[in-house]
Amino acid sequence: MNFEPRRKEETEAIEEILKRYLPKEEGYAATVSQAVSYSVLAGGKRLRPMLMRECFRLFTQEDVREDKARCLLEPFMAAIEFIHTYSLVHDDLPCMDNDEYRRGRKTTHAVYGEGMAVLAGDALLNLAFETATQAFDGARVAGNGEWMYRCAKAFGILAGKAGIGGMIGGQCADTQAEDFPEERISQELLLYIHENKTAAMIESAMMIGGILAGCGEEDVRCLEKIGSKIGLAFQIQDDILDLTSSLEELGKQTGSDLKNHKVTYVSLNGIENSVKEVRRLSKEALSSLKALGNNVFLEMLVEDLITRKK
Ligand code: IPE
Ligand code: IPE
Ligand code: MG
Ligand code: MG
Ligand code: MG
Repeated sequence: MNFEPRRKEETEAIEEILKRYLPKEEGYAATVSQAVSYSVLAGGKRLRPMLMRECFRLFTQEDVREDKARCLLEPFMAAIEFIHTYSLVHDDLPCMDNDEYRRGRKTTHAVYGEGMAVLAGDALLNLAFETATQAFDGARVAGNGEWMYRCAKAFGILAGKAGIGGMIGGQCADTQAEDFPEERISQELLLYIHENKTAAMIESAMMIGGILAGCGEEDVRCLEKIGSKIGLAFQIQDDILDLTSSLEELGKQTGSDLKNHKVTYVSLNGIENSVKEVRRLSKEALSSLKALGNNVFLEMLVEDLITRKK
């Protein structure tokens, strides 16, 4: 399989899905809707919806795939990208990481002001859940009680992994650790931060893909473990790129972690160990994934994350 053209195709298809669920830019709330669209359509990698769709494909028979995908999967794909985008808009605010570039352009607050950026983030979180509920309509129209149950389970994962027991919890520790004295910084704290601020959303994406496809409890747990490894590797690579890449290549300002005294894998363990750890975690994730089923594009996607430059 030719990986890059396929990835491009999948990314474009995801972008079309996202556009369908974006709010109309009209009336007195036009500005916040514009800020929402600006943040979403800035051209991210769309990794989370992509992982969701590929995990769904891993467990779905070809003949029912398209129908089910339209009803159940697409609302959740859009929802997770909306939550992820909100987390980036807020992460960039002056009261958090205070960054000026994101996805190759000015951050939302730099263009629309801080107030609008806070509101755009809030709006995206609400829009995510509003969008995900459309999957319930799809299940009802299909008259399928089992699909309804799957949607409810997926909805719970979406909410939980983005919350205090997931992304928000990680962002909390990440923010507070900036001011910790050295004796309070540990590998355990670092692991908590990475597992929650980043891996939780990747676990969520993979688990929801599996749940909507109808895979059992044991396989969902397996997807969660694989997501955790991919997520940790992904954040370590993000920490590496923050030091070694450039604004032009990465689309966001580098040196942000040093500027903010962040606890990162690189600050604790050095570059060389970080590179090794990305490789180790990704390889482990890959072999567990192969044991679950056959999806060559998904395997290539995970493999690509080891050497990703953006
Ligand atoms: C950035 O996520 C924030 C982290 C969790 C490291 P991505 O690197 O997936 O950002 P986009 O969506 O491609 O812009
Ligand atoms: C943020 O981690 C993870 C989020 C939950 C948004 P970073 O602060 O390292 O992400 P970037 O480098 O700004 O994308
Ligand atoms: Mg941050
Ligand atoms: Mg940041
Ligand atoms: Mg970073």
